[in-house]
Amino acid sequence: MLIKRSPDLRESDVTPKELYLRRREFLAVAGSTAVAVAANGLDFTGPSTVAAQNPGAQKLTNLTKSPFSTDEKLNSYKDVTTYNNFYEFGLDKGDPAKYAHTLKPRPWSVVVEGQCGKPGTYNIEDIMKWAPLEERIYRHRCVEAWSIVVPWIGYPLGDFLKRFEPTTKAKYVEFKTLVDPRQMPGQTEPALQWPYNEGLRMDEAMHPLALLGLGLYGEVLPNQNGAPIRLVLPWKYGFKSIKSIVRVRFVENEPLNTWKQQQASEYGFYANVNPQVDHPRWSQGSERRLGEFFRRKTLMFNGYGDQVASLYTGMDLRKSY
Ligand code: MTE
Repeated sequence: MLIKRSPDLRESDVTPKELYLRRREFLAVAGSTAVAVAANGLDFTGPSTVAAQNPGAQKLTNLTKSPFSTDEKLNSYKDVTTYNNFYEFGLDKGDPAKYAHTLKPRPWSVVVEGQCGKPGTYNIEDIMKWAPLEERIYRHRCVEAWSIVVPWIGYPLGDFLKRFEPTTKAKYVEFKTLVDPRQMPGQTEPALQWPYNEGLRMDEAMHPLALLGLGLYGEVLPNQNGAPIRLVLPWKYGFKSIKSIVRVRFVENEPLNTWKQQQASEYGFYANVNPQVDHPRWSQGSERRLGEFFRRKTLMFNGYGDQVASLYTGMDLRKSY
């Protein structure tokens, strides 16, 4: 993904020049259409203050605690909800929190199609009830070399996908984000090719660590984090975790994901966190955890190697990046 200022990266270092320049045009458009600032005007400082400061958000209760959770220190609600990548609302990290109030996450439905026994259109309220909701605290590593720790809520992506009875021809699953420039003003600009598109090999999608994200910090997903339904794939760079999904398609061939389509020499299909394979324009050897001063070393598969490395046995991860 493209980028923004961090102590070590300048936006112009990591953003293709044409996008960097176009961001300025986008900001002019967004600024003229945006009316109010959504939840980001509030000052969230951490878990204990979340409920008190965002009373309008639907709370999610009876959450199962996941054994897959890390015990690392959580980033604050403010970090998680005001430093985002969601190009449908602008290219700056603060844009989604400012502009995503135009997204309407209810009513919402997801179309399921392709190689499966139960294609159809499924309502978000039903989807939310298909499996017990878990809280899963995951590290989340962006390709731009920053990371956060988030208390997600959701259930295994495999539990969701199995309901549609994928056939033996379903080798991959593809996901698409909503396209509606009235709700997503960034789509009036060709910053990316819309809809945002992502894909997984079926065994990756069925892996127990792959989460269907439906909330965070005890409530439904804030718009800027991909309401009402997204992926959360902690061993991959953040761009694989597609937001605001409206379409799921089971397919035979590897789908072309948005960032590979954008710049195949820089972003691949697998996008596994890999400190040994640098991005052509910056190192992936270390990362900045939001809120910390010193950089920390990036871990292979973002520290989830014991669980997921076997998915890639025999593959050259320098080529299949
Ligand atoms: N999904 C859509 N539809 N549009 C986007 O721009 N950005 C991706 C991913 N999913 C993106 C998206 C990137 S680059 C990252 S790092 C994560 O969302 C960020 O998730 P977060 O804002 O919840 O931290």
